[in-house]
Amino acid sequence: MTVFEPRIVGFLCGWCAYEGADAAGRARKTYPAHLRIVRVLCSGRVDPQFVLEAFRQGADGVMILGCHPGECHYKEGNLQALKMTAILKKLLGQCGIQEERLRLDWVAAGEYGKLVKIVGEMVEKVKSLGPLRLREDGGGINSALTRH
Ligand code: FES
Repeated sequence: MTVFEPRIVGFLCGWCAYEGADAAGRARKTYPAHLRIVRVLCSGRVDPQFVLEAFRQGADGVMILGCHPGECHYKEGNLQALKMTAILKKLLGQCGIQEERLRLDWVAAGEYGKLVKIVGEMVEKVKSLGPLRLREDGGGINSALTRH
């Protein structure tokens, strides 16, 4: 029997969460290797298409990690990410993708402990959901991408 090792794509804000991941490495703290990090300028920069494309290309889960509310370097980027995530979760549901496969959270540059914890939680959550199996037509993602 093969063990399911989920692929998780993480869009990490370069001002905070990405620094947190770096700090975790410097502190010799480990987080699951299931996380493939994409550094972005701000969580508000994460376009819904990035998330849909990640799922279409084989991600079992996606994380968006940004600065805490009130600390976004672009003022309201993280609040835009919050609104976008709520809408995107509904769209994922319509595509047959459980909304728990997408997680938005806030991680400050020094909060490497939190980063390690939430990545571990996400891996366990996605393991419990099992591999994402999209229908052959992309489970509605293809049409969602062309509509966007
Ligand atoms: Fe980090 Fe906007 S700069 S979330």
